Amino acid sequence: MFVDYWKSPALILTFTILKLLFYTCPLYRTYEFINRFADDLDLKLFGQHIAAHSILKAVEGFMSNANPKKPLVLSLHGWTGTGKNFASQLIAENIYKEGIKSRFFHVFSATHHFPHPKQHLQTYKVWKGIADCERSMFIFDEVDKMDPKLMDSIKPYLDYYDKLDGVSYQKAIFIFLSNEGGDVIAQTALDFKKAGRRREDIKLVDLETPLSRSLFDNTQSGFFRSSLISKKMVDYFIPFLPLEYNHVIQCVKAEMKTRGILPNPDVAERLAKDLVYFPKSERIFSTIGCKTVDKKLHFYL
Ligand SMILES: Nc1ncnc2c1ncn2[C@@H]1O[C@H](COP(=O)(O)OP(=O)(O)OP(=O)(O)O)[C@@H](O)[C@H]1O
Ligand SMILES: [Mg+2]
Repeated sequence: MFVDYWKSPALILTFTILKLLFYTCPLYRTYEFINRFADDLDLKLFGQHIAAHSILKAVEGFMSNANPKKPLVLSLHGWTGTGKNFASQLIAENIYKEGIKSRFFHVFSATHHFPHPKQHLQTYKVWKGIADCERSMFIFDEVDKMDPKLMDSIKPYLDYYDKLDGVSYQKAIFIFLSNEGGDVIAQTALDFKKAGRRREDIKLVDLETPLSRSLFDNTQSGFFRSSLISKKMVDYFIPFLPLEYNHVIQCVKAEMKTRGILPNPDVAERLAKDLVYFPKSERIFSTIGCKTVDKKLHFYL
């Protein structure tokens, strides 16, 4: 009798509906995604023409491919407060109907989730979630502080495997964030400035060589000592430029808009002027980018 009960068509239907409601990932359709994502990057991510273009092309291409052979793996680099987390959130906001609140958007931080070097990522139940949503996103923050062994334990998930423990990771997106390479990116931006060239004229090729040299020469960072790098698991290394005074102004105005306050140029200028800029003599780039602008705003209103 018990067996018959479980075979009841009504019950099977109820379970199927419940599973569809709770265990599938509501995604935007690709055509909805592409235009809005481009607009979002254009309007919301300030001063990052290289990162915006690279991220758009990489994610757009990946999401348009119904059968990718491997997950998309991006590594975002740059000075603090330049928008690495912010850009990752923009991706999630445009992919998932529930945005960054989606249970398929996972953020791991080296210092928060893995304070002990021996901690193993495989123990994380989060991997199982991918069975419900192949288009899951995994952000690894502060990867330069992660243990190489920990990073190596992610390797199988990034590879060309059809299935791992019965689930496929080929449609997932992995994003690594770090400040690694921030110095050389800033130096290149400074060299352009000093040569009287426009920031918008900096091209990815201008940064590729100095960035990769600085990453591969790094003997301290767990991420760069891990085999993820030597095995070429990363599809794109994406540089974030240091932000200038005008970008900080844009960030303050955006924050005011988010709070429903009319963007006030005077408030934005006073706040932006109070930040510290480098190099000391020229005061070109904000040392904290746009970080903490949201917290500071209160004092200038
Ligand atoms: N380029 C940007 N365009 C728009 N807003 C930005 C930009 N950079 C930073 N911000 C704002 O500043 C906040 C902090 O930036 P974010 O956390 O993305 O920096 P980060 O590059 O991840 O820095 P860190 O290396 O310190 O983690 C963001 O939530 C966003 O509001
Ligand atoms: Mg960050």
